[in-house]
Amino acid sequence: MNQTESRKDEHVRVSLEKDVSAHHNYWDDVKLIHNALPEINKNEIDLSTRLFGKKLGAPLIIAGMTGGFQKAKKINENLAMAAEKFQIGMGVGSQRSALEKPDLKETYGVIKNYDIPLRFANIGASQIVLWGHRKTLENAQKMIDMIDANVFVTCLNFLQEVVQFEGEAHAKGCFNAIKKLAEDIDIPLVVKESGAGISYDVASRLSKTKIAGIDVGGAGGTSFAAIEHYRAKMINDRLHERGGKTFWDWGIPTPTSILEVGEATNWKLPIIATGGIRNGLDAAKALAIGANCAGMAHALLKPATKGKDSTIFEVDAIVKELRAAMFLVGADKISKMSDAGVELWI
Ligand SMILES: Cc1cc2nc3c(=O)[nH]c(=O)nc-3n(C[C@H](O)[C@H](O)[C@H](O)COP(=O)(O)O)c2cc1C
Repeated sequence: MNQTESRKDEHVRVSLEKDVSAHHNYWDDVKLIHNALPEINKNEIDLSTRLFGKKLGAPLIIAGMTGGFQKAKKINENLAMAAEKFQIGMGVGSQRSALEKPDLKETYGVIKNYDIPLRFANIGASQIVLWGHRKTLENAQKMIDMIDANVFVTCLNFLQEVVQFEGEAHAKGCFNAIKKLAEDIDIPLVVKESGAGISYDVASRLSKTKIAGIDVGGAGGTSFAAIEHYRAKMINDRLHERGGKTFWDWGIPTPTSILEVGEATNWKLPIIATGGIRNGLDAAKALAIGANCAGMAHALLKPATKGKDSTIFEVDAIVKELRAAMFLVGADKISKMSDAGVELWI
């Protein structure tokens, strides 16, 4: 295994074996107001929605997590089967490993065998700065072909880079690289955080580019500082073990980030709410405060390592919980979720 490959493997292993969640989940600070007279029938609720020109069976996305080491193929395959069954979106993890080592392509490409309405390619934003514009466009095409992607995601992960012992905390030139990529790439470009959230100011800057959407990737769920804390511990690196602990809860809470991004973009750019979504009720809360879709990583990782049936069971439960929450607020379609009453305690 090369360094990128073993890092990907360790991220999954640490996420499964240790508690790497933020100490507080901010979805607990958002309450939907019960509607005692909803005047709709639960089985008539329409969960379908449109995102980036595609129809989804429910406003849910399996957030990009993995690929790039052999065991990831099965995880991605189980996730893909569930994405096909429920017609929801699916991302893969950073595809850098497969660009470095083409025999790993299949660990991502396995999802091509399934009929998934939205497939998100993924690469770290610091990587596109290092490559430069021409090489980025070349590599982007390879990543798109690898999974037949119809959306391209570039991920901001500077929290992870700064606490990781082998991290590359080079952020200079990142905005311009994203701006140019958005202008020249053939499919919609989404900018995604990976657990530290997007602020009003960053969203305002991004809204002046041609990006097609923002995945807020806020704090409250998986903490990459926590993952790096445990990885450093494994190799007795006390400095980074400590840094991971110090920054464990760093970041903008996901619900706050949705509100900030919405305000900054006049609610014109699609918002994906990833970060701490544990169930269909959290997804409903995200829709009620203005997100277009909810993204989940941690909630689906364990089921996906167990098998197809566990993954399908989990997604089915999430969809049913979302439907139940919609019934209880009286929303018979996704667009009506923004009218649901919400109490915020953040
Ligand atoms: C094991 C693991 C690997 C991840 N790898 C990536 C990645 O390569 N690219 C990315 O954009 N996000 C990555 N993420 C971040 C998730 O997409 C998501 O933003 C984050 O985990 C918060 O969601 P959650 O609280 O539902 O886990 C990863 C998450 C996990 C758990």
